[in-house]
Amino acid sequence: MSIHIGAEPGQIASTVLLPGDPLRAKYFAESLLSDVICFNRVRGMLGFTGSYSGKRISVMGSGMGIPTLSIYVNELIREYGVTTLMRVGTCGALQPDLKVGDLILAMSSSTDSNVNRLRFGGRDYAPTADFELLLRGYEVARARGVAVRVGQIFAADSFYNDDADWWKVFAEYGVLAVEMESAGLYTLAAKYGARALSILTVSDSVVTGAEASSEERERGYSLMAEIAMEIA
Ligand code: HPA
Repeated sequence: MSIHIGAEPGQIASTVLLPGDPLRAKYFAESLLSDVICFNRVRGMLGFTGSYSGKRISVMGSGMGIPTLSIYVNELIREYGVTTLMRVGTCGALQPDLKVGDLILAMSSSTDSNVNRLRFGGRDYAPTADFELLLRGYEVARARGVAVRVGQIFAADSFYNDDADWWKVFAEYGVLAVEMESAGLYTLAAKYGARALSILTVSDSVVTGAEASSEERERGYSLMAEIAMEIA
């Protein structure tokens, strides 16, 4: 057991998929894995391990935001020896040509979180995906005929922002989408020599205000999880 994860040693696979929502982790485990065990119920942040095409894979909720995800990622790597972490989550599009349901592989992540400024003494750090996971993710998505974009995203500390236009300068500089976790995930993976990738589905557009229907969300989620499990 670690402070926030109730697993016994050996119950967590070396590869962990991290949806934000723990019930989504349960759904992935039940629909895509066989021989499933539940290794965590602490704080309702459900985690499961099972088998996908003969590969042992875990899936666990990360919660929302860099602080929450960072607690779990620290413990998964340091206490359970996890070496590959793939976030499978949603994002808001910042570019007009990105539509609800589109898939994004986050090559790097800007952020307004202060965690890295504190960590690096006020200097900026560029949190970056693992190249091999990124390449494999791209290949698997393309082989399935999926419209996939690779590029920079933004990890925001606030979902609700007083300044409605805050994102425009990032859009101008090519940032594809906003979510709330990837800069934290990539930084911790780098610190501990682990591999990380965020696979994201556009759930809404900050540009147009469009939002995914529950059917579109469902489809996007399953696709991301399958791609992540294939490249694991
Ligand atoms: N902002 C932040 N995080 C998100 C969004 C958003 O618009 N959509 C999905 N995750």
